[in-house]
Amino acid sequence: MQQFGVIGLSVMGKNLALNIRHHGFSVAGYSIDKPEVDAFAKYQDDKLKPTYSWQEFVDSLEKPRKILIQIMAGKPVDETLKKLLPLLDAGDILIDGGNSNFHDTARRYHEMEQHGIHFIGMGVSGGEQGALNGPALMPGGDEAAYREVAPILEAIAAKTDDGRPCVSYIGPESSGHYVKMVHNGIEYGIMEVICEIYDIMRKVGDYSNKQMSMMFDLWNQGDLHSYLVEITAKVLKQKDNLTSGDIVDKILNVASYKGTGNWMLEDAIRLGTPISVTAEAVLSRFMSKASFKDGREYRLDSTIAFPKLAEDLEASLLLAQAVSYAQGFDQLRMAAAQYNWQLHYPAIAQNWEAGCIIRSLTLQKIEQTYRDEGNLANLFKAPVFRKLMNNNLQALREVLQIALQAHIPTPALSAARNYLDSIFNPSLPANLLQAQRDYFGAHTYQRNDRPGTFHTEWYHEA
Ligand code: 6PG
Repeated sequence: MQQFGVIGLSVMGKNLALNIRHHGFSVAGYSIDKPEVDAFAKYQDDKLKPTYSWQEFVDSLEKPRKILIQIMAGKPVDETLKKLLPLLDAGDILIDGGNSNFHDTARRYHEMEQHGIHFIGMGVSGGEQGALNGPALMPGGDEAAYREVAPILEAIAAKTDDGRPCVSYIGPESSGHYVKMVHNGIEYGIMEVICEIYDIMRKVGDYSNKQMSMMFDLWNQGDLHSYLVEITAKVLKQKDNLTSGDIVDKILNVASYKGTGNWMLEDAIRLGTPISVTAEAVLSRFMSKASFKDGREYRLDSTIAFPKLAEDLEASLLLAQAVSYAQGFDQLRMAAAQYNWQLHYPAIAQNWEAGCIIRSLTLQKIEQTYRDEGNLANLFKAPVFRKLMNNNLQALREVLQIALQAHIPTPALSAARNYLDSIFNPSLPANLLQAQRDYFGAHTYQRNDRPGTFHTEWYHEA
């Protein structure tokens, strides 16, 4: 009998199964796509078993069964549950490791609950290599069920620099997939900020791809140490295999997306969370499709010198990516209140410190900050992040001025600056907005000098 089962044996499912096997657990694999099972069968041994039917798969597993579903999110997950349900017993545990929408996960959790099946919605990050060598895992659902699968998940997960696993119980119901969605929204934000920095580097700094690669590489050795900065350095120095140039210059500048970042924005709108960096990152992907590819762009007069450009760009990137994280954690805090989840922020930061796409040195600081400060209203309220802001905000302002002069759009960098200039600002002009609303719609307002709700009889000209 196998200790664990995996459904879906394309690259993620296969690699996770191999990772589980590698850590000494026996695993059965099944896919509705027979060639995938045949490919999986090449690894067959006493602890790795390919199966060729739903029944054979389910029968090969120890009870309570522990099954990871690693297939495309959406309808295929519901179809799989339909096939599995009649073959399962109460107490079995199903884990959905795809990028499922958290609303679907909530629905499935309750549907499965009615049949006595424990359903865990688990975010998995790290791509193919992560799946094989150590992903970041974000499981949410029934806590007792999580405890049963925890030894396997902890064994296969990535480990932080000090050896702790990048997996922990996130919270009830769909909170695991919610946290993965926020991970992806932060991912969108940081990627967009890096792209804007690159745009200024190449257009204002006139740096070659090789020079930019070296700069990102250098930054990766300091406070900006992160997977996304590291791969940017690698991407920029990759040669094209069809021409003599660099591949980055041959790639069409139209962004695709599967949309998990968009989902974060959808829920931010529902919750009223100002996740402006992710929002601009999502819109920038739309803009990359909408912008006219035959248009002309203005380039800065190259005689103007910017002696501190590289330094200011590094500082701006450091600050703007921190804003993306801060906004993500802000959304988690608001979601926890709305959905009645107890989220453990230091553990979430720890989960993201290795294995996943947004892993970075900054996350180690975030974990420590949450451990030191408890339930923070905003990361930038903590002294460490306040200092980061004080040390780098001027550089960001200067970079934005340069971009403005050069007509280079900087939606995400500007959003980060606007956020920091707003979040600590006691005199935002919403007083006038409230007056306008009350003027045309008698929507009422509150006053800053006494409690209560007020309406003014505005003077309307005849
Ligand atoms: C991860 C990634 C992964 C995937 C993104 C890409 O954590 O491993 O986030 O889940 O690469 O979903 O998203 P887009 O296609 O929307 O850019």
